[in-house]
Amino acid sequence: MIRNTASGFGLLAIILHWMVALLVFVMLALGNIMGALASTDPLRPVLLDLHKMIGLTILALILVRIAWRLANPVPVLPISMKSWQRICARLSHYTLYGLTVLIPLTGWALVSARVQTPTLMLFDRLPVPALPVLKYFGSGAEAVILFWQVHDVLGGLLVLLVLIHIAAAMRHHFVLSDDVLRRMMTARLAGKANSQNIGAANCVVTATGGKK
Ligand code: HEM
Ligand code: HEM
Repeated sequence: MIRNTASGFGLLAIILHWMVALLVFVMLALGNIMGALASTDPLRPVLLDLHKMIGLTILALILVRIAWRLANPVPVLPISMKSWQRICARLSHYTLYGLTVLIPLTGWALVSARVQTPTLMLFDRLPVPALPVLKYFGSGAEAVILFWQVHDVLGGLLVLLVLIHIAAAMRHHFVLSDDVLRRMMTARLAGKANSQNIGAANCVVTATGGKK
């Protein structure tokens, strides 16, 4: 099942979730390894180009993912969850989406301000357009510092939120024993209403004519 339903995520949403998750872990590791290397280390520019390339890939994937989410029903959360818990869960998901857009954008802006040319070159051969940040920031140095700081702070926030997100997923699976983690692992649950959220799923399907 490719599309999401009110009771589970479809295959495309699941593949995109795990691809972005994996790449985000690689990026956080790369960011921190680069930070620990001396500025003269020959490995640094290689890792930095890899970081930029994967980061721009994440940006493209997350935009597809957001478009797909808007075009699909969002699986309802288990009816056993209290309303404040559902609100927190949804808010944390929106924040994760927001951070995975803003972090690559600030990284892209930072390197665009650094090169001060219309094109960035990755691995000396892959051209990427530079963002026109210098139009809005007089001095390149000021823009570099600003975007670097925002990139850094948002990166820290992402680590914190991902840790909370993983802890919440583990709690759903091992303590509450519901389908929240399972439905992000298999698209089969999208094909059938399951016992834990069938009531809420039916309400959503009835209220929206199956569109939401
Ligand atoms: C989801 C995507 C991204 C994540 C999670 C991420 C994360 C990080 C982290 C954790 C750091 C280390 C910050 C520090 O030193 O304290 C960093 C540094 C950096 N990132 Fe990203 N980043 C992402 C995307 C990008 C993109 C798309 C670009 C550019 C096209 C970029 C360019 C940079 C640069 C230039 C640095 C500074 C490296 C240095 O000179 O030490 N990042 N990033
Ligand atoms: C081991 C790591 C991870 C686990 C176990 C995990 C688990 C899950 C689970 C179970 C859901 C489904 C929640 C629901 O049913 O409503 C979910 C949704 C989500 N996850 Fe993750 N996740 C992980 C990593 C990440 C990472 C690194 C990101 C992004 C930076 C991320 C972003 C999201 C977002 C935005 C949603 C909301 C999906 C939607 O409603 O459209 N996840 N995750």
